Amino acid sequence: MRTKEYVLLLGAERHLRERAFSGAKQATDLPIWAATKDAVRNLNRTFDNMISADPRDPESLLATIRAHAAQGWHPRVIVPFDDWTVASANPVNRVLGLSGLDAATVTNTRDKWSMKQALLAAGVQTPRSHLVQSDQELLEAVEAIGLPVVIKPYDFGGSVGVVLAATREEAVAGFAESRAVVAQYGSSYNISGDKYLVEQFVDSDDEVSVEVLCGVDRAQALTVTEKYLSRPPWFAEVAHLVPSHRAGDRVLTDLAERACTALGIDRGIAHVEIKFAADGTAWVIEAAARPAGDAVMDQIEKAYSLNPYRLHVGSYLGFDLLDVARKAVPTKSSAIAYLQASSGQIEDIFDEKPLPPEVRSINISAKRGDFSQVTKNNLTLGEGFVELEWDELFSEKTMLPVTVAKQLADQIFVTSDAAGE
Ligand SMILES: Nc1ncnc2c1ncn2[C@@H]1O[C@H](COP(=O)(O)OP(=O)(O)OP(=O)(O)O)[C@@H](O)[C@H]1O
Ligand SMILES: [Mg+2]
Repeated sequence: MRTKEYVLLLGAERHLRERAFSGAKQATDLPIWAATKDAVRNLNRTFDNMISADPRDPESLLATIRAHAAQGWHPRVIVPFDDWTVASANPVNRVLGLSGLDAATVTNTRDKWSMKQALLAAGVQTPRSHLVQSDQELLEAVEAIGLPVVIKPYDFGGSVGVVLAATREEAVAGFAESRAVVAQYGSSYNISGDKYLVEQFVDSDDEVSVEVLCGVDRAQALTVTEKYLSRPPWFAEVAHLVPSHRAGDRVLTDLAERACTALGIDRGIAHVEIKFAADGTAWVIEAAARPAGDAVMDQIEKAYSLNPYRLHVGSYLGFDLLDVARKAVPTKSSAIAYLQASSGQIEDIFDEKPLPPEVRSINISAKRGDFSQVTKNNLTLGEGFVELEWDELFSEKTMLPVTVAKQLADQIFVTSDAAGE
């Protein structure tokens, strides 16, 4: 039988990762396939083909890939786009003899405790932390690290269960709360939720992510994204702007590149989160071996006229594209910000009013009658989002993404204050 090849994208079928298909098409002439649990009922016609398999489940993927192999179709490469599929792609690649991230790298980037050890061993500055399983261990960790501390599950994402504690009592209450949140969401994400990190708190609102294209033992920052967070004690991301005014800061991008090589990320685009202390010191919070979510890649495409998914997929196919990343030049600023109604029940939605010129797109997910809640993690992202674009590059931190989103949300949503409190 004649062998036919395809590129399988995992996680690219998700909302706000639609541009992955176009980037993959720019990287290769091979057909671009994706997986979804039930491709008959959830067919996404953008992809050249969709296979019925759970993209997060290696067994399900292997069974379906083998069924297609019997018809002569073989994956050239399997490309993950989120944390869950970084984990599922690895055993599939191993069984099928395909190239991909090393198992140790998957552990280093999925298990925050292993990540810390690998970063520290390479001399990459990251907050001190302890791994705890009980209240007693928690209090010992608080004693050793000093208050305030951040408590977080070692194996989750989306800022779920990440809490700040300023006192011992808050630490015990926050630990309980974090476990409760993880119990609520964990099973649908395959999270064990049995261990938690207690970390030294880097106290500031200054945070960025660095989007890095990785190669073997080297890496090249593509851009720096300015992050806007919800108010303490929660750490939900409420807006992202590309490029950050710090995009040309070599000390910062070097740190991010070193974090990637320390973790053994040798292909694809990685997402490195860095927070600045009041004295300006940069601390690596974490690094993920996959592109940023929340349509940050789309903001890069707008700002740089370059689809970064092309680099991600091209790198998995074995092309050296680090020079393309190094030479990328932004000509605009582009942002995504979440629309947050004030707390209460949403009585009315006015979404037909004229929009300011910087609005590129707006998407309202809330309906009349919904209850608005202050965003606590990245799994519950407000009442919608807006994408903004400016024909200028900012030379210092701008709050425009947050202020424009707030003005729009106030104009669009009418909530009854008393309800839903
Ligand atoms: N030690 C710390 N000091 C200060 N802030 C922290 C610390 N750890 C986490 N944070 C804040 O909490 C956010 C979420 O933490 P972290 O990235 O570890 O969790 P996550 O669940 O993987 O998040 P996400 O998937 O949203 O990136 C960080 O982006 C940062 O704003
Ligand atoms: Mg994070």
